[in-house]
Amino acid sequence: MSEAVAGAVAERFEELYGAGPEGVWAAPGRVNLIGEHTDYNDGFVMPFALPHITVAAVSRREDGVLRLHSADIDGGVVELRVDDLAPETDRNWTAYPAGVVWALREAGHPVTGADVHLTSTVPSGAGLSSSAALEVVVALALNDLYELGLKGWQLARLCQRAENVYVGAPTGIMDQTASACCEAGHALFLDTRDLSQKQIPFDLAAEGMRLLVVDTQVKHAHSDGEYGKRRAGCEKGAALLGVDALRDVPYDGLDAALDRLGDEEEVRRLVRHVVTEDERVERVVSLLESGDTRAIGPVLVEGHASLRDDFRISCPELDLVVDTALGAGALGARMTGGGFGGSAIVLAEAADVDTIAKAVQEAFAAADFTAPRVFEAVPAAGARRLS
Ligand code: GLA
Repeated sequence: MSEAVAGAVAERFEELYGAGPEGVWAAPGRVNLIGEHTDYNDGFVMPFALPHITVAAVSRREDGVLRLHSADIDGGVVELRVDDLAPETDRNWTAYPAGVVWALREAGHPVTGADVHLTSTVPSGAGLSSSAALEVVVALALNDLYELGLKGWQLARLCQRAENVYVGAPTGIMDQTASACCEAGHALFLDTRDLSQKQIPFDLAAEGMRLLVVDTQVKHAHSDGEYGKRRAGCEKGAALLGVDALRDVPYDGLDAALDRLGDEEEVRRLVRHVVTEDERVERVVSLLESGDTRAIGPVLVEGHASLRDDFRISCPELDLVVDTALGAGALGARMTGGGFGGSAIVLAEAADVDTIAKAVQEAFAAADFTAPRVFEAVPAAGARRLS
């Protein structure tokens, strides 16, 4: 399957640029099982890669020219000069791949140009990290072609820098690390402080369960601003508590920390979410490691309530997925990703999945919401070379 994809993408590259590519790479989107809005607080996350991938055919250039083309976006080949790349000058999709080239060069890596053709099956604006997939596939291709010798986590850091500084979106490190480092059949337990990682086997089918992703199709226009506000609120909380990051507030010291925050009601809610969410990640890891997979369901539901009530980043569509799925017999459900729309995940017995999916579709129709896109997610491979 990946050979056929690589062949088709290479063929299109040749049509565009007049010669075949030096190679073809892929990087996946992700869902996050648990650990939301913890990554920019130096905390824990647990994403896994989706089978949906962004594919890049790439060749080096030595003349300082960067040519970018996407099969998914009208607009033809965009031609840039690597010397001219500068943060926050590009508001288009090209900012992501160009930002990666900029970040690599800023870090002293001798990238002298490239021809790039991209295509993606990662739904965009669905909270499934299409941006990270786009960044990581370009970073991996250039790492291989220019023989930079960077590891997955190092590429993730450079991609995050591209997104934070070049694109101007204040995201954490989860999505890029997930895309770069996940392994098939596993969820990635990641400590975002030092990027230490543990691959946790996550084979639901073997245990008679399945996990659905429900893309609500809601794309919030103000999500970037709201994301930044939550992040600033968390940083304020850490400063008021005298810690480097909220990760340093121990779970058993939460009540005392909340007392110290006095009447800072909004900050108290943000702190409570982050500290309890880190504990939920650790709980999910130990349940999975002890083979008690079904018991993670209620932890996912707790996580959703915390994001809805304390962090306040859910929306009616996400809440409807969770409530309907649980009402139809799901083991657990929660919103996943940044919030304000995007996707939810539903953990269920394999035998109940069709009933649950139908119930969600019907509830959306009854509420007059746009029909959601529902698909099953099986943990897939991280970024890799296809040919
Ligand atoms: C977005 C960001 C991530 C992370 C999540 C919330 O996906 O890109 O860094 O903060 O939101 O967990």
